[in-house]
Amino acid sequence: MKTVLVTGSSSGFGLATARYFLDRDWSVVAAMRTPRKGLLPDSNRLRLVALDVTDASSIERAVNDVGDIDVLVNNAGAGLMGALEGVSMDAARQLFELNTFGAMAMTQAFLPGFRRQGAGVVVNVSSAVTLKPIPLLSVYTASKAALEAFSEGFALEVEPFGVRVRVVIPGRSPETSFGAAARARSENGIPQAYAAWAKQVFSAAPQQPIDITTANDVAKGVWQAVTDASSPCRIPVGADAAALAG
Ligand SMILES: NC(=O)c1ccc[n+]([C@@H]2O[C@H](COP(=O)([O-])OP(=O)(O)OC[C@H]3O[C@@H](n4cnc5c(N)ncnc54)[C@H](OP(=O)(O)O)[C@@H]3O)[C@@H](O)[C@H]2O)c1
Repeated sequence: MKTVLVTGSSSGFGLATARYFLDRDWSVVAAMRTPRKGLLPDSNRLRLVALDVTDASSIERAVNDVGDIDVLVNNAGAGLMGALEGVSMDAARQLFELNTFGAMAMTQAFLPGFRRQGAGVVVNVSSAVTLKPIPLLSVYTASKAALEAFSEGFALEVEPFGVRVRVVIPGRSPETSFGAAARARSENGIPQAYAAWAKQVFSAAPQQPIDITTANDVAKGVWQAVTDASSPCRIPVGADAAALAG
């Protein structure tokens, strides 16, 4: 039986992905900052593990606890909205620690196991903001663009060891906690000088229903990335991401 570890399994895409693999008879390590029973169905194939991907000692503990896995899904992440002038460099660095360096650190930690096994898959969850620039999301976009660039180069580096790397690129998904978490991080993100312009940007948002991405779209995309060796390195998921990717 194969084992997948999903970071950020407490909600949204991570929770849906953990459930999707659990439903398909995989052994699932659901990694959460604060493990909570009851989010996923009880199963002897499910393990909850405490993990903060920005904390080196937490990663080390998780690797020692979990042992070898077959698939790592770097899903944990957060958004940040604001004009650059309204984003402190501390906030920008924290975002990269989570969205970019967190995924790199997790990958580095599990890589020796993959090399020993001569097999493994790393799936990094990016965002469709990398497909089309959006104002007031430049720092978030940079953190995900860096993750994608890293993934593509890293894929070549580990291919000789039987390790595959995929990037799943979801569109906008209002159903997850992402928006609320991003707003919490984005306090003071719009300085006064940008207020009128930002208002125009927000009011220009289409009023009619538009394509979105569901958590299930993302779970399916991760499943494809893992189970279909012929899948492309970058996999847009959700109707909006697919449209942007052309
Ligand atoms: N929703 C969207 O519109 C959208 C679109 C494109 C891409 N994405 C990306 O998809 C991924 C999942 O987002 P989501 O929409 O599912 O949002 P979400 O519901 O807010 O889930 C984010 C997850 O990341 C976890 N997390 C945050 N900081 C962490 C840390 N330091 N260590 C470990 N876990 C941490 C959260 O755990 P806690 O419960 O402990 O906070 C939560 O489980 C993110 O990488 C996000 O950038 C989202």
